[in-house]
Amino acid sequence: METLGERFQRETKYSRKGRPPATRVLSHPEEFKAYPQAPRFPLPPPGEEPGPGIWQVMGARRSVRDFSPQAITLGALARLLWSVGGVREKRWGFLFRIVPSAGALYPVETYVMVNRVEGLDRGLYHLHVPTFSLELVKEGDHSRTLVRAALGQEMVATCGVAFIWTAVIDRCRVKYGERAFRYIYLDAGHVGQNLYLAATSLGLGCCTIGAFFDDEVNQVLGVDGLEEAVLYLGVVGIPA
Ligand SMILES: Cc1cc2nc3c(=O)[nH]c(=O)nc-3n(C[C@H](O)[C@H](O)[C@H](O)COP(=O)(O)O)c2cc1C
Repeated sequence: METLGERFQRETKYSRKGRPPATRVLSHPEEFKAYPQAPRFPLPPPGEEPGPGIWQVMGARRSVRDFSPQAITLGALARLLWSVGGVREKRWGFLFRIVPSAGALYPVETYVMVNRVEGLDRGLYHLHVPTFSLELVKEGDHSRTLVRAALGQEMVATCGVAFIWTAVIDRCRVKYGERAFRYIYLDAGHVGQNLYLAATSLGLGCCTIGAFFDDEVNQVLGVDGLEEAVLYLGVVGIPA
């Protein structure tokens, strides 16, 4: 009997006989998500800083799960955010980003749960891409809820900052139908690797997380899990 995964692979295949049929689209989402009522905190743009070269960074990257209680700097957080959601250039009226994305549709949204960052209160923030600023979605300490949602992985609370990536599914599905799910997961992989490399380059530790209770993470963020759903997490802090 064909499994769900095998059926997904088959039904989303491009083949010489045809492409996957167009599917139900729930909405025509905006190019960027925004929280217009939320307080907004502009981030310092990344400057030209000397650092290790790309080959050294790739060779040094590893998953780090133990963190010191020391806060990371706002400058470091800004660089990390730029590595996952920064804009590279404006071309043909579109904002092209640091990370690649199928069809330049950028379905991945970035949220951060700030535990310990100098100059930024604890809380849950959303990255507003066009202004490179953080929008405060929920004040306060949500680390215990997120640890529980991440199957009890304590590094979610001991890190300086936890990244949470969601996808606005129809941003990609309007073009690619159900094949969009493949591209969304691939996009998320690029984002996660950039976080690893940026953290390594800054001398910080990073670990990405795929093990979580989806509904619980969606609930923390206040997203419905259908039009917008959690994809992936990543934690960063000063290595212990
Ligand atoms: C998609 C994905 C999901 C992962 N989920 C978790 C996780 O939930 N918890 C964890 O401790 N590590 C997680 N990791 C990290 C892997 O365990 C780690 O990359 C692997 O053991 C190789 O070690 P390295 O990253 O140090 O090279 C995940 C990595 C990836 C790419």
